[in-house]
Amino acid sequence: MASWLRKKEVHNKAPDLDSPLLTVKGIERSFQVGSQKLQVLKGIDMELKRSQLVMLRGRSGSGKTTLMNLIGGLDEPSSGEIFFLGHPFHKCSDDQRTHIRRQEIGFIFQSFALMPLLSARENVELALRMAGTPRSQWKSRVAHCLELVGLSKRMNHRPFELSGGEQQRVAIAKAIAHRPSLLLADEPTAELDSQMGAQIMSVFQSIIATEQVTICMTTHDPTILEVADHVYEMVDGRFVS
Ligand SMILES: Nc1ncnc2c1ncn2[C@@H]1O[C@H](COP(=O)(O)OP(=O)(O)OP(=O)(O)O)[C@@H](O)[C@H]1O
Ligand SMILES: [Mg+2]
Repeated sequence: MASWLRKKEVHNKAPDLDSPLLTVKGIERSFQVGSQKLQVLKGIDMELKRSQLVMLRGRSGSGKTTLMNLIGGLDEPSSGEIFFLGHPFHKCSDDQRTHIRRQEIGFIFQSFALMPLLSARENVELALRMAGTPRSQWKSRVAHCLELVGLSKRMNHRPFELSGGEQQRVAIAKAIAHRPSLLLADEPTAELDSQMGAQIMSVFQSIIATEQVTICMTTHDPTILEVADHVYEMVDGRFVS
């Protein structure tokens, strides 16, 4: 494994804060559907800087989730390049990409994706266990992350004992527990009312400031777009400005 993969870049050496976290160059992605090739992404260029809140907007079917999956290393582009922390994501093996993803990326989904039988505390702890964080650090890190999202008092509640907004905040605590440098959130507020959506956005802003994480999210909500550092608008697999 390449030496840069063995260590967690952001915590083991001083990061070059001016270098981009992620650079996407000329990404295309097509799918074979029956006998037809469906071209979904048609040449995407983007850059995510550190500690930014970046949003993707676009109509249903424009390709937002397809792009998020590529950025998060869940899928491979048909052509083009993705550099994560300066290193060529597109040239990595599946194992290498999985390794980087576990160390450096956190995911948040529209539907929260919590383990239903585990408490808030246990859900966050599970993320640390999966990331290989030493057990001695679990308790304090779990407490810290739940405090960041304002749920210290709900630690022992299971998902069904929490509101939708609270469940999404547990999901955020879970996604940032292993100190990723990038948080990807696909329509994180779509299932919430506007007040809970606003709470999620304020949690995002505070974790960008305190955890030095970059958040890239998709949304359809125009009021949410207002707080972005940058908005990419996607139309039919391309960005328009
Ligand atoms: N694995 C796949 N195989 C074939 N087609 C796919 C696949 N994944 C996505 N697509 C197609 O790519 C297009 C873009 O899908 P994508 O999920 O990226 O859109 P989106 O912008 O996230 O939409 P929404 O706002 O509804 O979530 C759609 O037409 C979809 O049917
Ligand atoms: Mg989508």
